[in-house]
Amino acid sequence: MKINGKNYQTIWLDEDDRGIVRVIDQQKLPFFLEIKDLRTVDDVFYAIRNMTVRGAPLIGAAGAFGIYLATLDPAFRKDNKFIEKAAGLLISARPTAVNLAWAVNFVLERLKKNNSGSTAPEIALKAALDICETEKENCRRIGVHGLALIEKLSREKNGKPVNILTHCNAGWLACIDYGTATAPIYMAYDRGISLHVWVDETRPANQGARLTVFELGSYGVPCTLITDNCGGHLMQQKEVDIVIVGSDRTARNGDSANKIGTYLKALAAWDNGISFYVALPTTSIDPGIADGMKEIPVELRSGNEVTTVSGFAEGRIQQVRICPENTVAMNWSFDVTPARLITGLITEKGICRASEEDITDLFSDKQK
Ligand code: MRU
Repeated sequence: MKINGKNYQTIWLDEDDRGIVRVIDQQKLPFFLEIKDLRTVDDVFYAIRNMTVRGAPLIGAAGAFGIYLATLDPAFRKDNKFIEKAAGLLISARPTAVNLAWAVNFVLERLKKNNSGSTAPEIALKAALDICETEKENCRRIGVHGLALIEKLSREKNGKPVNILTHCNAGWLACIDYGTATAPIYMAYDRGISLHVWVDETRPANQGARLTVFELGSYGVPCTLITDNCGGHLMQQKEVDIVIVGSDRTARNGDSANKIGTYLKALAAWDNGISFYVALPTTSIDPGIADGMKEIPVELRSGNEVTTVSGFAEGRIQQVRICPENTVAMNWSFDVTPARLITGLITEKGICRASEEDITDLFSDKQK
């Protein structure tokens, strides 16, 4: 995607110094476009933990590059447990998005299977780059499948703007490129379909306000920022035609974890007869979890993120407290939407029901 006319991915290797992985610092957006250099496993761990990089597919890719950086560390040659310790650390950075463990284990598997004569860093780097390319292509294909839904709504509305509501940032910034929930939106926009996006601000980290508005706006997609509590009202007023969100982990039964507040949007959509779609690559599906409501680990982050707000004032990013000093705050970061509230999953393999039967078919490569 382009920022100020220049093409960016969210993560890439520094071609001048292949010991450096570069990322867009998402804590600074939209106020500053800063690139951060990651040189060690610890750098990658903290970048994931403090949300310099965030979004399920992107933290997966970052974890994969983390293993690559581990193979460059002199400790890799001295300590035969070093790589496993690095993997454990990286996977522990955030618990909910399954992509992180999936991607780290994917690189480890490639290293174990090494029969190519290549060095460990060569193998790990190739694996991380393969993940990036696959996730880009996954998102592009999610766009193709999701586009059909928006086209249909546009036809039904005789070309009047299709109003899409999204939560958090499941855009290109959360992935490598295109995004998941946003991929059909960008594709429909490119086709000249009239559309408009309601963007939930997504307290406490404000990914919607800071990131989704930034990326949709940079692309020219009409969008309006709303408070997290506004969606239900808009749905009652028939101002929402479809809800499309991302997922950090979808269980085998279709239950889907996404940013806190997603469940409430699904409930409101259900009550108002509005389609609620989850757009995700199959790398965000965890077939090992049978019952998402019971088993998906939900991240609990610091209450400080709730008691404060970050914003731009006097030329810099500042944090202010929004409640009495010593307020006790709780910060569950994700919730799980039960499959029964989900109209469908938009994956790179096609659109399917959020059901064990359809998800099993996805993994046996039957197209829906
Ligand atoms: O805490 P975050 O910003 O990492 O949460 C991100 C989300 O909830 C996204 O919707 C999800 O990762 C899907 S990304 C395509």
